[in-house]
Amino acid sequence: AFTPRIFSGIQPSGGLTLGNYLGALKRFVEKQDEGTTPTIYCLVDMHAITVWQDPEKLRHATREAAAGFLAAGIDPKKSILFNQSQVSAHAELGWIFNCVARMGWMGRMTQWKDKAGKNSENASLGLFAYPALMAADILAYKATAVPVGEDQKQHLELTRDIAAKFNNDYGVDFFPMTEPLIEGAATRVMSLRDGTKKMSKSDPSDQSRINLTDDADAIAAKIRKAKTDPEPLPETLDGLRDRPEARNLVNIYAALSGMTAAGVVAEYAGAQFGTFKPALADLAVAKLSPITGEMTRLMQDPAEIDRILGEGADQAEAIARPVLDDVYRITGM
Ligand code: ADP
Ligand code: NA
Repeated sequence: AFTPRIFSGIQPSGGLTLGNYLGALKRFVEKQDEGTTPTIYCLVDMHAITVWQDPEKLRHATREAAAGFLAAGIDPKKSILFNQSQVSAHAELGWIFNCVARMGWMGRMTQWKDKAGKNSENASLGLFAYPALMAADILAYKATAVPVGEDQKQHLELTRDIAAKFNNDYGVDFFPMTEPLIEGAATRVMSLRDGTKKMSKSDPSDQSRINLTDDADAIAAKIRKAKTDPEPLPETLDGLRDRPEARNLVNIYAALSGMTAAGVVAEYAGAQFGTFKPALADLAVAKLSPITGEMTRLMQDPAEIDRILGEGADQAEAIARPVLDDVYRITGM
């Protein structure tokens, strides 16, 4: 039996979005506050550089993401919060997993196909190997559960495949079969401009997403301009089946308010978007502006953020290093 442990990460490749918040960060805080299982959270800057990052912007975005975690309620006394590149066990185990994972497995990853697109000859080798490094992030702590959004489900399956192949190849029961925790009303927040694409910090259109750094006016304007259809909200959730943009706004409302999507539809049955969008904007501003304000305050003291991340890295290292020592022994190195 493996000791229960929760791990998750977010790339500091730009500002955090409402999708990151609802699908990941808000749930990281809930898991921390349940207090039953140790929680380890990581800013995965080595994943960010699988596509080009301006060094100064990356440094800034990493601190800003840390500020976002703290502002959203991650408490360094309750959770370990650190930056991936400061704990070398990730890169070391990532290499070993590059030698465990198969080319064919990686080639089937939909995120690889989406991000590399038709020009995969020109994508970085790191972008291809990304899911093996992600497996290393998780398994360096022998994490048993990973809160993530829906988009990471396939990568979690690959993490289990890597753990199983390692255990099998070396005849050990060393790594756990990590479970994804994909829960809540907003496991896949969609773009505000296109109901078929997920909201992402790497989308070129800023109008497609709400950033945790957006002020109240920007949030209200983006929601007002969000793509919808001309129909009023239906009587039941069933009526949203072929209305992805409307469904997305209802899901966002549900996740922000703590209601179910069915409850939101019941409350707003028959309402026009002219009524629903301002209500959603008010709710989003009420929930996000305290976080935005606290992020701004924290960003005035970058040395304090660096200190918290440094302490987190020491705590993370203390867990991961003995695991790596065992891995080197098991693999004959
Ligand atoms: P991004 O796509 O914004 O770069 P990351 O790859 O860093 O996000 O993902 C960080 C976490 O946020 C993951 O758990 C991921 O599943 C979650 N996440 C990202 N985008 C969304 C979204 N649109 N809806 C729900 N969760 C999301
Ligand atoms: Na992603």
